[in-house]
Amino acid sequence: MADLTHGSDRLTAEEKLRLLVDFGTRISSELHLDKLLDIIAQQITQMLDVGRCTIYLKDEAKNELWSKIAQGKGLEHTEIRIPLNSDGFIALVARYGQTINLPNAYDDPRFSVDVDMVTAFRTHATIAVPLKNNSDEVLGVVQASNKSNGTPFDKNDEGLLRLLATLASGSIEIAQLYQEIRVAQLETIYRLAVTAEYRDQQDTRQHLKNISIIAYLLALALGMSKTEAELIKNASPLHDIGKVALADNILLKPGKLTPEEFEIMKSHTIYGGKILEGAHSKVLQMAHKMSLYHHEKWNGSGYPKGLKEEEIPLEARIVTVADVFDALCVFRVYKKAWKTEEALNYIIEESGKSFDPRVVAAFKKIYPSVKRLYAHVSVNQPAHKDASVEKEVS
Ligand code: C2E
Ligand code: SIN
Ligand code: SIN
Ligand code: FE
Repeated sequence: MADLTHGSDRLTAEEKLRLLVDFGTRISSELHLDKLLDIIAQQITQMLDVGRCTIYLKDEAKNELWSKIAQGKGLEHTEIRIPLNSDGFIALVARYGQTINLPNAYDDPRFSVDVDMVTAFRTHATIAVPLKNNSDEVLGVVQASNKSNGTPFDKNDEGLLRLLATLASGSIEIAQLYQEIRVAQLETIYRLAVTAEYRDQQDTRQHLKNISIIAYLLALALGMSKTEAELIKNASPLHDIGKVALADNILLKPGKLTPEEFEIMKSHTIYGGKILEGAHSKVLQMAHKMSLYHHEKWNGSGYPKGLKEEEIPLEARIVTVADVFDALCVFRVYKKAWKTEEALNYIIEESGKSFDPRVVAAFKKIYPSVKRLYAHVSVNQPAHKDASVEKEVS
């Protein structure tokens, strides 16, 4: 057990014990990996009274260690990657599972100045300990650098850092599992959405991506929280899932639909509603409302139910604007691509008719960002059909 009275002279033993308990509590309640790593690094920086703490995690697939290093008061994160088979001391700690303590980093050939160069930091004394799980497997490395009193790290610092690393590794493993589940969920949603749109759209992946980015920006501009906006972003690709139920001769008709055909087309909202009905996850519950109501109009003239104004769920009112703007800006079998300014004008014209005026006002605000998404769309030429799925990690 580490001597907690040592390390920093500024803190009493009691304060350190409180920090330690606090550390355990805070890290066990954070399931989001990036946030968890930030908290761990902050706490270790404070408890060891050092200039910097960096956490590297193994990326088994790439045989690398990676870290996101906070820059400039923690606002920006720079991703650092180190090959696991390198001779640098961080890689050595990960490979051999042993602590390495360098009293003066720049005097040791195992220390690479690369990270310092990227982050504009000058490492003096530095110490790295392995992050091990209960099965003694190395998950990564925790590095602490530059004690504020300028001395090298001693046995007590090492003991404390190893203790904190042990506490941290359990939480990190859990957060990694959660992340894996989240990524798997998003991938599944995305692939499902691609399936629905694969037949009728020329660049499915880009189309879905643009709609979710626009919906996300709209949600933020409307003052929704980041969490809520992310939910909207993740659910929105599914809004047209009901199209899987439509026959090719309607979905792929290279011209105008007859009124009868359009009646059938409208049923994609009902099908989408049925497919997603009764879902348990928040994201699919949201996708359910989006798929059922994304063709409702503010003035009540939409379908399938003819809901109006606030009767239409807000997430659906958001997706409607994103969907129509995107549909106008791209090529379809039945229409050419419009210029983004023309599409913007249409959205504004339809404020209070098709669209919620508040959502249109938000759209005007985000338009400069939206416009950039369509910089590469050509007016007549369909883009190459592409159903590959890009990983979207929240
Ligand atoms: P979509 O192509 O993704 O279009 C989504 C929505 O964008 C449309 O919903 C409509 O509100 C708007 N939109 C798309 N293109 C235009 C346009 O050229 N002018 C105007 N003013 N608005 C446009 P809507 O009308 O309920 O259509 C739903 C879906 O039905 C469309 O999805 C498309 O898959 C299909 N569809 C609609 N009209 C036709 C058509 O004439 N021919 C074919 N083959 N399909 C059509
Ligand atoms: C390395 O181990 O390759 C670099 C790590 C560092 O310089 O901090
Ligand atoms: C639609 O299918 O209804 C319109 C297209 C879309 O919603 O993307
Ligand atoms: Fe639709």
